[in-house]
Order: sequence, then structure tokens, then C-alpha cells
Amino acid sequence: MAEQREQFRSRLGFILAAAGSAVGIGNLVGFPVNAAKSGGAAFLIIYAAFVVFICLPVMIAEMSLGRKTQRNPLGAYKSIAGDRSAWRFGGWLALITPFMIAVFYQVLTVWLLGYFLGAVSGNLEAMSVEGYFGNFINDNGVFLYLGVLTVLIGIILNSGVQNGIERLAKVLMPSLFIMLITLTVFVLTLPNALKGVEFYLVPDFSKINLATVNIALSQAFFSLSLGMGILITYGSYVSKRESVASGAKMVALVDTSVAFFAGLLILPAIFVFNPEINTDDLSSSSVSLVFTFLPKIFLSLQSVIGFVGASIFASAFFLLVFFAAITSQVSILQVPISAFQDELKFSRFKSVLALGACAALLVIASMVSFGMVPLFTEFLAYGGKVNSFFDLVYDVFYETILPLNGFIVCLFVIYRWRRSNLDTELMVGDDTYKGSFTQRYVNFALGTFVPAILLFVFTTTVLLKFFGVNVFELL
Ligand code: PHE
Repeated sequence: MAEQREQFRSRLGFILAAAGSAVGIGNLVGFPVNAAKSGGAAFLIIYAAFVVFICLPVMIAEMSLGRKTQRNPLGAYKSIAGDRSAWRFGGWLALITPFMIAVFYQVLTVWLLGYFLGAVSGNLEAMSVEGYFGNFINDNGVFLYLGVLTVLIGIILNSGVQNGIERLAKVLMPSLFIMLITLTVFVLTLPNALKGVEFYLVPDFSKINLATVNIALSQAFFSLSLGMGILITYGSYVSKRESVASGAKMVALVDTSVAFFAGLLILPAIFVFNPEINTDDLSSSSVSLVFTFLPKIFLSLQSVIGFVGASIFASAFFLLVFFAAITSQVSILQVPISAFQDELKFSRFKSVLALGACAALLVIASMVSFGMVPLFTEFLAYGGKVNSFFDLVYDVFYETILPLNGFIVCLFVIYRWRRSNLDTELMVGDDTYKGSFTQRYVNFALGTFVPAILLFVFTTTVLLKFFGVNVFELL
């Protein structure tokens, strides 16, 4: 007899686990930076509209596909379209994408661990010096952190969906909310903080153009963990007694609220540091912001709260982001694990080991691509420059392919699986779905403008990243 598929124990457990996946570096750092550069609340409004009108239908589609088929993304595509159908390539993409994003994200999580330990051990001063980051990432210590993290994540994943992922989310997510609120309230009491709040919450629509709209959409899509196969996989662990649509709405709400509060934390903190700051100078990359800019800001807090206070603040912040990263990381690694279990009938332990071995090699290749090994540092030329292995993974999987995966999901669900089957699945565990506005909207949006917009975003990104053509400048 086939083994019973694992399930989340409770509705709350599922929502926290999915929110744990969604809340990550994207919300805590990516969102505030983009909001700062693109008109504050003006960006927020556009972002929130995209979450509700474009991303939520895709999220609902992914989750219902998983719950219906009870499989990983590849299995989900195959079980609806057949083993030899061309749609299975969509399934492969939804499997390879999370695997490669996990490789890249693991590197960031390793750095976060190192920065947390650095701040805790009183190193904040050194960490805020120019050049520290470059030395840190090329120091052998990162391999030690990688080892610790890999074992930790392996143990969580090997404990399974209920006892590993769900339990972790139930502990880490509430801690994360408490830390985020405490840090935000604290920052708001500091001098000049209100300037930051004003900057954030008074909309500046003059900063909005087609390019910023594009950024808002990509940011929302990434932040909700769409196009990564995660929500298909998590959907497959949701009980038939639960409402998929209302679960998805809760996850989107939590994710967006965390992004909002992160803005309220980071922007005022930046203004405490330098009230005259020109936010156009902020780097667009969340990576350089977390690791090179924020330590300076945290250190500057010492004039108000002393060095120990500043170190505690910095440690709490890095721990917060680290927690967010770990819950995202387990969600994305669960995708290939479920594929090993479903498709190759591996046991959980064997799946975790197989995945760990494949991933570790690629993570190490990424970690040595900042100068340690020339082959990986100068890996491939495209877009007018020579890129490292890490850059390649980042550009292809993090920046480019997600909207394509979203596009394929929309077409697959509406035109292959069909609307009536989607409807039927969404009515399972939900008496209110039939005839609701959500039903009509989801059906319409997924078959029309949502895939069209996602295809547009995908095309413009490919042109920009790989061919150096900026469509928005041409328009
Ligand atoms: N939503 C996550 C974030 O905001 C994206 C992500 C999920 C990244 C899972 C990696 C793994 O960071």
C-alpha cells in the first residue's frame, strides 16, 4: 500500500509554514530598499495592488494544483497532463528553479549566520569598515558556517513536514514578528526617525514609471515565493478540510505586513544615521545593503544607545533576517525532497542526503566564485561583462525565470487542467467559494491578463540581463 502523504497538522501550522517561506530577505531588505528608491508609499500602493490582483490568483492556482495532485511540481504536471506531455517541461522548470535558488540562498544564509555571530561577539566596529565584507566572504570561516547550517537544515528536513517544517515555523515565525515589532518601535523613538517615516509614508508619485512598476511586480512575485514550486509542494500537504483560497489570502496578508513593517524599521534607521541622506544613492541590491551598509548604520546607533546597545540591536536584526532566511530555505529545499520521495520513491532520509550532496557541491562552487577559484569567479561572459558562477545562478534563477514559471502555471491550470477542475478543487473545504467574487476574479485573471503581464516581465528581464537592451528606455 502506498504510504500516506504527510500533512500539515493544523490550519495555523500551514499558514505559518507558508508565511515562513514567503517572509524572507525579499521582504525584510529588498522591499524597504525598493520603496526608498521608488517613491515610498507610492511604491507600497502599487506593490500591494500587485499582490492582490496579480500574485494572489497565481498563489491560489499553485496551491490548488498541489493539493489536487498530492505531488511535487514535476509529479503535479505529469499527473494531470500525462508522463510524456510537453507540459512536463513546466514541471521540470518548477523543480530545477527552486533547487538553484536554494543554492544561491544558502550562500546568503551562511553570510547572515556569520554576521549574526560577528555582531554577538562584539565585532560590529570591524564589520562596518569598508572592505570587511569582501574579506569575510573569502575567508575560510564561511565553510565552517556552511557545515553547521547544512547539518541544521538537514535535521529539520529529515524530521518531516509536521515535526520539522511546521514545528520550526511555529517557533520562529512568532519570534520573528515579536522581534520585528520591538525593533521597529525602538527605532521610532530615536531622533530623526520621524523624518524616515515621513519619507516612507508620504507618497511621491513622480518616482513611478514603467520600470519601477516592473520592479514592484517582480518584487511582489518573488516575495510571495511564487514560481518556485514551493506553493505547489506545500499545497500537497494541506488537508482537504481547509480552504485553499482563504489560506492564500492570509499568507499574502502576513507577507505584505512584514514588508510594510520592515520599511518602517529600515528607513527610519537610515535617517537616524544620516538625516540628509540621498536615498537615490542606496544600492539597489539587497545583498550589499544588508552586508555593507546596515552594519554602518547599526554602529552609528552607538552615539544614542552605546556600543553594547548598538551591538544588541545589530545582533537582533541579523537574527531576525536569519530566522526569515531559514524558514524560506527549508521550504525551497522541500521541493526537490518531495520530488525524490514521490518520483524515485526514496525514503525521506535518503532524499535529504541525496539533495544535500548535490546542493553542497553547487553551494561550494558559488562560495568560491568571489575570487577564491578563478574558474568560478570568471565563469561566463554575457550581458556585456564576465560573470561569476554565483552571478549566473542569481541572474538566471533569482531574477529571470520566476515570471516564466508563473506564466506556465497560469496557462496550465486554466487551459490544460481547466477552470472547472480548479473550481472544484477550490470548493473542497470551502463552502463560500462557489459564486464568490474571488472565484470569478481568479478564473478571469488567470486566463487573461495575469499570464500576459508575466510574459511581458519575463521578456523585458531577459532583454535587459542578457542582451543589455532596456525596453523601458526605448518606450
Ligand atoms: N519569499 C522569499 C523572500 O522574500 C523568497 C524565497 C523563498 C527565497 C524561499 C528563497 C527560498 O526572500
